[in-house]
Amino acid sequence: EESHTSEIDQPTTSIDGSVKQPFVIGVAGGAASGKTTVCDLIIDQLHDQRVVLIFFLMPLRPTTTFETRKRWTQSSTVLHLNTSLGSLGVELEPVTLSTKSLNLCQDSFYHNLTLEELTKVHEYNFDHPDAFDTEQLLCVMEKLKHGQAVDVPKYDFKSYKNDVFPLRRVNPSDVIILEGILIFHDPRVRDLMSMKIFVDTDADVRLARRIRRDTVEKNRDIATVLDQYSKFVKPAFDDFILPTKKYADIIIPRGGDNHVAIDLIVQHIRTKLGQNNLCKIYPNLYVIQSTFQI
Ligand code: CTP
Repeated sequence: EESHTSEIDQPTTSIDGSVKQPFVIGVAGGAASGKTTVCDLIIDQLHDQRVVLIFFLMPLRPTTTFETRKRWTQSSTVLHLNTSLGSLGVELEPVTLSTKSLNLCQDSFYHNLTLEELTKVHEYNFDHPDAFDTEQLLCVMEKLKHGQAVDVPKYDFKSYKNDVFPLRRVNPSDVIILEGILIFHDPRVRDLMSMKIFVDTDADVRLARRIRRDTVEKNRDIATVLDQYSKFVKPAFDDFILPTKKYADIIIPRGGDNHVAIDLIVQHIRTKLGQNNLCKIYPNLYVIQSTFQI
C-alpha cells in the first residue's frame, strides 16, 4: 500500500496542479462544551475512505494515456494503490480517497502575558476576545490557503505561555477545522469559513466538566476555578460567545454525543469536496463501491 507520508510537505493541489482552497469549518461553543470531541470525530470519519474505481477502457479518449490516468489517481484526494486487472476491456483500480485535514485551536493564539499580568493572573480575563492574537491566526490561515506549511504554537495552560512547547508544523489540507470559544467573533475569521458549527451544551454540564478538567489537568483548586467561572467565564459566555451562535449554520445539541449530527456533517463535507461526485470529475471513471472504510 502506498504511503500518504510521501506527500506530507506538498501543498494540496487539484488535478490541474493549482493550489486547492481548503474547506474551512469553524467550531465554536462555550468552554468545555465538547468542541474538541466534535472536531476529532469529524476528522476521524473523514479519513481514508476505501473505494474501488473502474476505468472503462473503451470510452477513453485516445489521448488519455495510462500515465494521465495514473496522475489522476495520484492527486491528493485519490491515491493509486495497486495495479490493474486488464481483462474484458475494464480495468479495476482500488484506491483510497484520502482527505487531508487539520485541526487548529484558537487557544494556540492566546497572547503571552506580561510580567505584570502574570503576577495578577487571577484578574486576567481569558474569555475576552482581546485575549487572543487574531492577527496571527489570520496570518496562519492566509499561508495555509496559499499552500504553505506553517508553524503554530501550542499553548501551555499551566504557565500561561505559548513558547514552552515546540512549535507544531501544520501542512496545507483539504479540510481545516478552526476550533475555539470565540472563533466566530471576528468577521474576518468568520469570512474564511465554509461551514460554521456551534456546540450547544448545557451550562451545568460545561461547568462540571470544567471543574474536573481544571483540577485534574491544570492542577487548579476548586475555589479558583469557581471564582474564575463566575467572574469571567460565565459573563463572557453571555456577552461574547452566545451572541455568535446566530452565525452558525448548524447547532449541535449535546456535542460529541450527537453521532447523527456528526454523520450528517461528514456527509456534507464529502459532497462539498466532490468525493460523492467522482464521476463528474473523472468522466471515464465509475465508483462501484464507496462504503468500505479501511
Ligand atoms: N483558559 C484558562 N487559562 C488559560 C487560558 C485559557 O483557564 N491560561 C480557559 C479560558 O478561561 C476559556 C477556556 O480556557 O474558558 C478555553 O478553552 P476551550 O477552547 O474552551 O477548551 P476546552 O474547554 O477544552 O473546550 P472543549 O471542551 O469544548 O473542547
